[in-house]
Amino acid sequence: MAQALLEVEKLNVAYGRAHVLFDLDLALGRGEVLALLGRNGAGKSTTLKAIIGLLRAQSGAIRFEGARIDGAAAHAVARLGIGYVPEDRRIFAELTVAENLDVARQKPRPGAPYWTPEALYALFPNLAEMRRRPGGRMSGGEQQMLTIARTLMGNPLLLLLDEPSEGLAPKIVEAMADTILRLKAEGLTVLLSEQNLHFAARVADRAAIIEKGRIRYGGTMAALIADEAAQHAYLSA
Ligand SMILES: Nc1ncnc2c1ncn2[C@@H]1O[C@H](COP(=O)(O)OP(=O)(O)O)[C@@H](O)[C@H]1O
Ligand SMILES: [Mg+2]
Repeated sequence: MAQALLEVEKLNVAYGRAHVLFDLDLALGRGEVLALLGRNGAGKSTTLKAIIGLLRAQSGAIRFEGARIDGAAAHAVARLGIGYVPEDRRIFAELTVAENLDVARQKPRPGAPYWTPEALYALFPNLAEMRRRPGGRMSGGEQQMLTIARTLMGNPLLLLLDEPSEGLAPKIVEAMADTILRLKAEGLTVLLSEQNLHFAARVADRAAIIEKGRIRYGGTMAALIADEAAQHAYLSA
């Protein structure tokens, strides 16, 4: 890999005395989609929260465009061009779809796709149809799409998605996969956490598997799909 957009090196994270990430290494090239796979409680959300600056690393390094970001506050990391969509959908329930997008509006960022509400309505046609609807009166899948659209208004270089397919109806899961593939086609780099291997296989170039806070597997998505032993060891229930 030429210079990675994001590099995580020997990351250790604890909640109080509970050590949950152990010497975690990850790297993402520009334009790549990486799936961080693992069972419930493996450490996926903790990894994303540490990258975005919501959790402090005990040790290790996180680099974005070559510069250290571990120790930086979450708002500062966001300003550098990392967008984060947490597991729980955080839309403003009282604001309409259009207002939810407007409050997140940012200046264009060199090297990153530039998003306007109109461009996002083209990407998410169902949001276009309900632009005057309050966020609180949308289905879970629609709220998930709105959360992603709102994060894109920050014109990120890197998008972190925490279990984007979770809790969505099968048809919405397919729409979510198509959306991620279109974002990749725009040149966006994406790190997503997933338990759903089928979904990850549709969208990701590479996979890393985390188990009990340690990376156990790294390779192309195609290699993981062919590796039933690894799937059985680290992913099946
Ligand atoms: N706020 C917290 N305080 C203490 N332990 C936590 C907290 N959040 C998560 N954990 C623990 O950290 C481990 C990893 O959790 P998490 O990163 O949420 O896993 P995943 O997202 O893969 O399901 C789990 O053992 C979980 O119980
Ligand atoms: Mg999680």
